[in-house]
Amino acid sequence: MEKTFLMVKPDGVQRNLIGEIVSRFETKGFKLAGAKLMNISDELAKQHYGEHKDRPFFGELVDFITSGPVFAMVWEGENVISTARNMMGKTNPAEATPGTIRGDFGLTVGKNVIHGSDSLESAEREVNLFFSKNEILSYEKQD
Ligand code: CMP
Repeated sequence: MEKTFLMVKPDGVQRNLIGEIVSRFETKGFKLAGAKLMNISDELAKQHYGEHKDRPFFGELVDFITSGPVFAMVWEGENVISTARNMMGKTNPAEATPGTIRGDFGLTVGKNVIHGSDSLESAEREVNLFFSKNEILSYEKQD
């Protein structure tokens, strides 16, 4: 079954949005396969955001994502990657539709509450970067 990596960013944790965000994916019908509250090291941040290393905001991105705990998650389900992206809304909260997570809770493109993998390749890479095999659980759950 398809898996994606989702992460409540430091602003979302500070603003007590973990429960709200987990609830949206649970009620949608996806299955939580792994989750942890963690601090991101400088090294992990640079690996995770490697594709943005030449962007002018790279330093800011790394500083922000390492500024406090994040809530990292693996979610599973049919078309979970694209559906989760739709539920998150556009990267820039100013352009995100109300009803989406960023549309409802985000303010700026940097502090946009949540990260989610954008493709099958990045989902596999990000799940493996943040989670070891034994942290991802396989279990039966009713639809
Ligand atoms: P995310 O989905 O975590 O992936 C890359 C992040 O870069 C993106 O969310 C934004 O938070 C961030 N980002 C994109 N554009 C800018 C920008 N102009 N300034 C700061 N951060 C940005």
